[in-house]
Amino acid sequence: MRYAPVLFLLVPPVLFPSGVRAESADEALARATAAVQAAIPRAQSDPARPIFHVTAPAQWINDPNGPIFYKGYYHLFYQLHPYSDQDGTKYWGHVRSRDLFKWEHLPIALAPSNDKGEEAIWSGSCTINGNGEPMIFYTSIARGKSAFDHAEQWAATSEDDLIHWKKSTANPVLSEALHERKIYDWRDPFVFHHRQKTYLVTGGHLAKEGQAAVNIYEAQNPALTQWKYRGVLFQVPDAPTAECPNFFNAGSQWVLFVSPYGKVQYFIGDFDAETCRFTPRSHGLLDYGSNFYAPNTMLLNNGTRLVWGWVNGFPNGHGWNGCLSLPRQLTISENGELKQAPAPQLTKLRGKPVAWHNVRADTVEKPLQLPETNSLEISAEIDLENAKSAELALNSNLKDMKPVIVSYQDEQLSVLDVKAPCRLSGTRKLNLRIFVDRSVLEVFANETVWVTKTISPLDNHPTIAVRSESGPANFKLVQAWPINTIW
Ligand code: FRU
Repeated sequence: MRYAPVLFLLVPPVLFPSGVRAESADEALARATAAVQAAIPRAQSDPARPIFHVTAPAQWINDPNGPIFYKGYYHLFYQLHPYSDQDGTKYWGHVRSRDLFKWEHLPIALAPSNDKGEEAIWSGSCTINGNGEPMIFYTSIARGKSAFDHAEQWAATSEDDLIHWKKSTANPVLSEALHERKIYDWRDPFVFHHRQKTYLVTGGHLAKEGQAAVNIYEAQNPALTQWKYRGVLFQVPDAPTAECPNFFNAGSQWVLFVSPYGKVQYFIGDFDAETCRFTPRSHGLLDYGSNFYAPNTMLLNNGTRLVWGWVNGFPNGHGWNGCLSLPRQLTISENGELKQAPAPQLTKLRGKPVAWHNVRADTVEKPLQLPETNSLEISAEIDLENAKSAELALNSNLKDMKPVIVSYQDEQLSVLDVKAPCRLSGTRKLNLRIFVDRSVLEVFANETVWVTKTISPLDNHPTIAVRSESGPANFKLVQAWPINTIW
């Protein structure tokens, strides 16, 4: 809601509690920056705060936004609530990296323009428009209106390497008037280019409850300020909504990600650019853990596609909350399966390794001493041979701390309480990459199964124990490295 100027004349401003008065985006930026700054000492002294996952300097973060590689830098934005370590009004925070393993914090990129009726800056994407300008698309939430019923898609452009952003004078660049039908929870614009045309997809649902739908629009001008609604790209079966859609091609196939208030789903199939309809052939889950949501992808010049998700589920009250997952590199296998591997650059963060060769595990646990830190990577090449199961348990000497167990049995991978289907080929080999970053655990199995979980941090003297059942499994090579900070 906009305040009529006359109201300010009649009611002395002092009667407005701070934060209710209509602030400009610049004022909001300054206030938010100071709030994040003030929370840094508490956040950064928390021993559970991850060191090799992207986080804000302090306070709450959620979705990764607008990943883009531009002029030699990987840029990531993220949903930031600058005023507490719990969910609240959103801004866009910003980090960048030259190499994908060392990152730097940059000034907050976008703040709400209260004076234009804007309450919050929700998720979106970043692209280069037809005039060569970097351009952010995001969901603008209006003051006093519920996001369920009403939203607009706004844009901003930058002239200085993505640091400062100016909101477009054409805002809203997409409004509900484009649709012939009501779309609830309409949000999260994601831009992609295909055969000289630019498209944008948004999420939402067509019924008050259910009928999750990804909507598609086609740009009508090079500045990307005029759009035409092309209808529903795809209705997601059995989902309440389709937040943060990402739609891109990988070779001859098209991939759609949606976040349906539950585990993130992916679909692989065909896109008919004439009709703007997507027909999936296969689908699955991007991550089997319960703490990975709202992923967003970045396309590199060499065609590589990277993905980051929001890791959630941390306790409140520590001055920070939330981080982004490690960057994962996406590919589609020959048999049409989605594969994700930790970005190869992450190996640059490794410290001095410890390694064990050909540890033949059986029912007796064989404890091995890990590097003296609770931010580490463990990789294991396991040959199950005739064993029924293989297990790796991470132990801490902390009282009441249960081991973190990663195990395989009966075509199933278990990571703590998470169970994921995991089929081994005839050779029965299992390759694990396990990243422990204080309170974040990410496990990759054979590049086809991924599990992200928040955990209680280990102590600085962790050990690992391996065992197997019904015959020894050969842990051909187990390696572990302390992992350095990304900052
Ligand atoms: C997903 C989401 C998005 C929305 C943003 C708000 O986590 O709900 O749909 O744009 O978060 O922070």
